[in-house]
Amino acid sequence: MSFDDIKARGLVMLGCGKMGQAMLEGWLARGIPPESVTVIDPHPSDWVNSQGLRVNQGLPDDPAVAIVAVKPQFMDQALPQLKPLGGGRCLIVSVAAGTPIATFEAVLGAGTRVIRAMPNTPAAIGRGITAIIGNDAAGSGDTDLAEALLSAVGQVVRLQTEDQIDAVTGVSGSGPAYVFYMIDALAAAARAEGLPEEMAMQLARATVAGAGALAKAADDSPEQLRINVTSPNGTTQAGLEVLMDDSTGLGPLMRATVAAATARSRELKG
Ligand SMILES: NC(=O)c1ccc[n+]([C@@H]2O[C@H](COP(=O)([O-])OP(=O)(O)OC[C@H]3O[C@@H](n4cnc5c(N)ncnc54)[C@H](OP(=O)(O)O)[C@@H]3O)[C@@H](O)[C@H]2O)c1
Repeated sequence: MSFDDIKARGLVMLGCGKMGQAMLEGWLARGIPPESVTVIDPHPSDWVNSQGLRVNQGLPDDPAVAIVAVKPQFMDQALPQLKPLGGGRCLIVSVAAGTPIATFEAVLGAGTRVIRAMPNTPAAIGRGITAIIGNDAAGSGDTDLAEALLSAVGQVVRLQTEDQIDAVTGVSGSGPAYVFYMIDALAAAARAEGLPEEMAMQLARATVAGAGALAKAADDSPEQLRINVTSPNGTTQAGLEVLMDDSTGLGPLMRATVAAATARSRELKG
């Protein structure tokens, strides 16, 4: 299965809100013709309505792929609409947090090819990272196609087991919020050292964004990048001695943070 199959047979989007739109923008830019895309969404956005897509006009006969991008709380209501696509020729790709592959198999029928994906919010600007895992019915060609599709909104990693998705949720799914909070904490510390509020936030935001971009672009590891800016007995070393403390520093705090988020993800799936 390939982009050519999608162009010929069509793609269905069940739910097209923030995440759905971010992905669809990428696919249209990569040459998927708008008339081959069917959107099913009770309140399509102005953007969705203005792209020349098929909006709420029923399912096509034999679409290549159906993307599920509804909130988990609407899944029970939304998913049965895809029943006619279950059991065979259509690949189902879900980006919905918290809905296991077994739910898709139960609702759409045994033999349905399902890829479950966990993206994160920087997908909205094409800088996301998405972890994917397929069921037994999905072949390697299906995983390749899902990877190609999700590459439109950032990087893609492949999981070995569906269980790993809880840890992914605790790391990259919830991770952007940890980093946003780090910006706030750095800005608060800047204010405490006497810098004006607006400048404190500007410094903190640019520092985290700039360091993130450097870590992504550089050949050196994050550890080496840190060592490069840490002169012996200098200011960075004084700060890092606090931040890297074995018992009170960021290491144990991050370990506990990710463990709590991962545990909550396990709990939520019941
Ligand atoms: N946003 C992210 O960065 C992100 C990251 C990781 C995972 N996800 C997952 O992606 C999924 C979508 O998230 P989102 O942020 O894109 O949510 P969203 O903006 O609320 O989009 C969901 C869309 O589905 C529509 N919908 C509701 N009920 C439906 C039904 N019965 N049939 C068809 N469509 C229906 C909604 O319409 P209404 O507006 O009318 O309700 C909305 O347009 C979620 O499961 C979320 O966990 C999102």
